[in-house]
Amino acid sequence: MTYDFLVIGSGPGGYVAAIRAAQLGLATALVEKNERFGGTCLNIGCIPSKALLDSSELYARLRGSGGSGGHGPDIRSHGIKVGRLELDLEAMMARKQQVVEKLTSGVGRLLEANGVDTFQGTGRLLGQGAVEVVPEKGSKQTLNSKSIILATGSVPATLPIFPVGEEGFLTSTEALSLTSVPSRLAVIGAGAIGLELGSVWSRLGAEVTVIELLDQILPGMDSEISRRLRSILGRQGLEIVTGTRVLGYEKAGKAKGGILLAAEAKDGKKLEFPADLVLVAVGRKPYTDGLGLAELGVKTEENSGRVPVDERFQTSLAGVYAIGDLIRAPMLAHKAEEEAIAVAELLAGKAGEVNYGTIPSVVYTWPELASVGKSEEALRQEGVQYNKGTFPFRANGRALAMASEDGLVKILADKGSDRLLGVHIVGPWASDLIAEAVAVMEFGGSAEDIARTVHSHPTLTEALREAALDAEGRAIHILSRKTG
Ligand code: NAI
Repeated sequence: MTYDFLVIGSGPGGYVAAIRAAQLGLATALVEKNERFGGTCLNIGCIPSKALLDSSELYARLRGSGGSGGHGPDIRSHGIKVGRLELDLEAMMARKQQVVEKLTSGVGRLLEANGVDTFQGTGRLLGQGAVEVVPEKGSKQTLNSKSIILATGSVPATLPIFPVGEEGFLTSTEALSLTSVPSRLAVIGAGAIGLELGSVWSRLGAEVTVIELLDQILPGMDSEISRRLRSILGRQGLEIVTGTRVLGYEKAGKAKGGILLAAEAKDGKKLEFPADLVLVAVGRKPYTDGLGLAELGVKTEENSGRVPVDERFQTSLAGVYAIGDLIRAPMLAHKAEEEAIAVAELLAGKAGEVNYGTIPSVVYTWPELASVGKSEEALRQEGVQYNKGTFPFRANGRALAMASEDGLVKILADKGSDRLLGVHIVGPWASDLIAEAVAVMEFGGSAEDIARTVHSHPTLTEALREAALDAEGRAIHILSRKTG
C-alpha cells in the first residue's frame, strides 16, 4: 500500500499531524520507535514535569515553606493546621507515571479511532517516498508514501565539560525520576527546564543553586517580568546566580556533596558550588540521528542541527517535510501542534499557516510566568512607540483570597493604533490567563478591546483588564500613572 502521509515521530507534532491528515481523508501512517506514543512531551517532558510540579507545590504549601513568596504564606494563615507531614516520593513518582500512561495510551486510541496505521520501529528515509522501519523485534519493512513528515523532536544539549549520563550528572530525563531527594542540587542553565525542575526539588527539600551564564534568568523574556520572577523564586529559597560560567568540576569528599563545581563570575571572581547532583539544562538540539538525512542530501544547519524548511514545511528534498523541534522557532509543544495542523492541511490542498507572532511561552514555576508577543526591550530596540499598562496581583480580589498575590500583568500596546504588541504575566495561573491575550492578538485586537470586555468578578482575569485600562491611564483599582 502507498500512503499519502507518513509521519516519523509521535510527539505533539507527529501525532497531531497524523490525526489531522486522517481527518482530511489522507491515507496516513505513523512510525514511532518507542513503546509508547507521545514523544518527549508526554513521556519525559511537559506532562511528567507538570505532574511533579503540582505534587511538589502541594507539599510545599502544606509544609508552609516558601516564605511570603510564590507558594503563598504558611498554610496556617488559611486556618489549616497540619500534623506530621511526610513525603512519599515513590508514590509521587508512581502518580506521575500514571498520568503519563493515561495520556500516552489515550493518544494510541485516538490514532486508531482516526484510522491511522501505526508502526513500531525506527524510521529511516530510503529516498523520496520510501521509509524503512526497523522494529526492536522482528524484521524490517519498507513503507511508501507520497509525503513524508519528519517530527522526531529534540534531545537535551550537553556541555563537553560534563559527563552527562555518568553518576551525579543528569539531564531533565533523569531529574524527573530521582528515587531520593538530593541534599544539594546544582542546575546549570536558568531556562524553563532549570527553573521548573529546580523548583520541584527545592520544594521537596533539596538545596538548589541555579547557575546561569547570561545576566538574567529566562534570557529573551521581558526583563522586568524575569526580574520579578527571580526575586520571588529567591524568596522561596532557590539560589540563583547569573552572569557565571561553570568551568569544570572535581570529585569532592562526601562533606562537599561529592561534586565541586568551579565557576567564574563576569568580574573574574572565582566561585565554587558543592553539589551531590548536577542537572545540565542548557537547551535542546534537534534529533535527527539515524534518519538518513545526510545520505539523501537533506540539508541541516551546521551549528544548530536544525532542518531548514520552506513556508510549506518542505525540506531541501521534495516530498519530505519537517515540523516541531527539528525546525526554526522555539522548541514548544504547542508550536509543533500548530505546524502539524498546518502541514496536514497544506498537503490536503487547504490553506494552512502558523502565526509565529502569537506563540505564548509559559514557565510553570509558582507563580507562573507567561508571555506572548514582544518584550519591552524588543520594542525599544525596534524603535516602536508603545503604551504600557501594569497591574499588580496584590490589588486583585481573587489573588488575595487565594493568598497568591505575588506578581503582575504587563500590557504593551502600539502608541498610535493601540494594537496589542505584547503581554507578560508573572502570577497565579498565568499559563491560563495568557490565552485571552493570545486570542486578542490573533484577531489583531487592541488594549481597548480587553479594557471594554466584561471580565467575571472576582477572577484573576480582571488583572488583565486593569492592566489594559492602565495602558490608557484609567485603571480603577490602582492609581494609574496618567489620568484621562
Ligand atoms: P533554554 O534554552 O530555555 O535555557 C537554557 C539556559 O541555559 C539559557 O538561559 C542559557 O543562557 C543557559 N546556558 C547555556 N549555556 C550555559 C552554560 N554553559 N552555563 C550556564 N548556563 C548556560 O533550555 P532548557 O531550559 O534546557 O529547555 C530546553 C527547551 O525545552 C527550550 O526550548 C524550552 O523552551 C523547552 N521547554 C519548555 C518548557 C515550557 O514551555 N514550560 C519547559 C521545559 C522545556
